[in-house]
Amino acid sequence: MMLDRSEEEGEGARPLGMGAVSHSGRVSMLAIAERLDILCVNNARNLMNIRELTISDYDPMVEIWRQAGLPYRPLGRDACERFCLEIQEDTAVFLGAEVDGELVGVVLGTHDGRKGWINRLAVLPAFRGRGFARALVLEVERRLNDRGILIVTCLIEADNGPSETLFQSLGYLGHGDITYYSKRQSQDW
Ligand SMILES: CC(C)(COP(=O)(O)OP(=O)(O)OC[C@H]1O[C@@H](n2cnc3c(N)ncnc32)[C@H](O)[C@@H]1OP(=O)(O)O)[C@@H](O)C(=O)NCCC(=O)NCCS
Repeated sequence: MMLDRSEEEGEGARPLGMGAVSHSGRVSMLAIAERLDILCVNNARNLMNIRELTISDYDPMVEIWRQAGLPYRPLGRDACERFCLEIQEDTAVFLGAEVDGELVGVVLGTHDGRKGWINRLAVLPAFRGRGFARALVLEVERRLNDRGILIVTCLIEADNGPSETLFQSLGYLGHGDITYYSKRQSQDW
């Protein structure tokens, strides 16, 4: 999946301010928030808040995945019942980005005791390009690090340029020499 960043800017573009310059030459308000170690990003139009997902976020989360074109396996690992169980585990760092009470971005962070994993990161199209995904990833990292998990990983499809750029900009290194294998009991998983 390739997204044209230029199409996403305009209305949704970040405002100018004091901070780090983005790939598009803009100044990131998030950089300021990061330095101040706060979880709210005031991008002049909206105040974004990052919080833990709750069971009642299931339907909005699925809708965000749908709009983001991410897979959804309701009969398998994405079943509502599973989500309700997983969210209570200490291994889960399920976070949402909220604007004016509306869930606009999600990420499912997990860890297996050795490594942290970032799954199902997605931001609603109308809210992209404002640093929300970056903020979600950084917060998952922080919470995993706090639990002693000092390596965080993710799987990115080869044609997902925006995601590759995002993770590279956050210091993630690609491993072109690794091939992903999986074994499923059924295609629902
Ligand atoms: C990928 C995705 C989560 C990015 O969300 P976002 O909130 O728009 O991303 P951010 O605004 O936080 O961007 C952070 C950085 O990512 C990179 N980036 C994000 N979108 C980009 C795009 N369309 N083109 C190029 N780089 C992009 C940039 O480096 C950007 O930093 P900069 O603007 O300061 O240079 C969003 O496009 C999405 O939901 N895509 C569909 C679902 C998906 O692919 N999820 C990832 C699965 S691994």
